[in-house]
Amino acid sequence: MSTLQIADSLGLSFVPIAALVGKDYNLGSAHLNSRTSRAPQSMDILIRAENLTKQFLAHGALPHTAVSALNLQVHEGEVLGLLGPNGAGKTTTVRMLTSILKPTAGRATIAGHDVVTDARHVRGIVGHLTEFPGLYLRMRAREYLDFYGELYGMSRAMRRGRADELLMQFGIADAANRRLSEFSKGMRQKVALIRSMLHSPRVLFLDEPTSAMDPHSAKQVRDAVAQLRGQGHTVFLCTHNLYEAETLADRLALIRKGELIALGTAQELKTKFLGAPTIEIRLAKPLGQAWSTFMQNGGAEKFHVEEFTETYLRYRTAEPQLNNPRLLKALNEAGAEIVTVSEAEQSLEHVYLKLVENV
Ligand SMILES: Nc1ncnc2c1ncn2[C@@H]1O[C@H](COP(=O)(O)OP(=O)(O)OP(=O)(O)O)[C@@H](O)[C@H]1O
Ligand SMILES: [Mg+2]
Repeated sequence: MSTLQIADSLGLSFVPIAALVGKDYNLGSAHLNSRTSRAPQSMDILIRAENLTKQFLAHGALPHTAVSALNLQVHEGEVLGLLGPNGAGKTTTVRMLTSILKPTAGRATIAGHDVVTDARHVRGIVGHLTEFPGLYLRMRAREYLDFYGELYGMSRAMRRGRADELLMQFGIADAANRRLSEFSKGMRQKVALIRSMLHSPRVLFLDEPTSAMDPHSAKQVRDAVAQLRGQGHTVFLCTHNLYEAETLADRLALIRKGELIALGTAQELKTKFLGAPTIEIRLAKPLGQAWSTFMQNGGAEKFHVEEFTETYLRYRTAEPQLNNPRLLKALNEAGAEIVTVSEAEQSLEHVYLKLVENV
């Protein structure tokens, strides 16, 4: 039985990549080298969604809009983090972009190929770790990856080499000859991740790649994503882990109820949605009356005080470059002994909660 017949019998819809994409997709080292030599984040748009919409029909109820007129562009070499609460439409978006699910309206392209009319080509250039990866549990890990490598059109030597390299990278080389049914949840997620990366895809879609992983394994995944980015691959990452999102993603997109509600770098989102940073000043001894005098003499208009004790002050100010030196000068003149002046951290979690809770 051929690999494709086996794939059919397993209910898999794979077609060898080499057959799909022809001349412009070379799985050999030339392809890998050309990717590594490219600087990340060239300005080419690799993923483009225009008014991308998905409605699910429900029996006896109005259609449910899971993704609503999404407009999004991801550049080649960029890591985009897609955030949003449960049911926001992240997985549905990814499934449309990877040609698994047909949009109800709008369109999307990957490297210029329409995800609907050119689905075969799209499937050939993307790697996709699905939210609930199904593995063929009777197979052994190495055998399973070899099987997929063949589906991807990789040569025997290449798929073996690449599988071994990735099994080693993710710390499960010891289990390579064990059946997948014996694998733990996190180990299965690793195998699925390796499967999605096996053919060094130009775009990798990762739907919650570390949801089942221990902290060390999650770090291995973050390192792998950072490495891919360094090699110029594009990564589309859905995650609930805000640390992961902030450390890995060049830009973050936040969706709620199927609508894009924010897009930008973590810093841009913090500035836009949290406003001016919060400054904290700690003093060695109580300040006495000097602070109230300062506030009465015009300070109250410029400083929004969030917390104030005898030796601690936390505030925001719209023009920190102008107002912080004025305040420090006044405190000095009042004889304050300043121990520290620091900017309080504005976390991505604050931005996320603010946007999601719409407060
Ligand atoms: N096959 C389907 N049929 C009907 N409704 C669906 C289907 N798939 C998803 N939905 C609905 O679409 C909405 C978006 O679901 P989706 O899985 O995209 O959310 P998500 O952002 O990935 O959530 P999570 O963070 O929980 O993974 C939800 O309301 C969900 O119930
Ligand atoms: Mg999901």
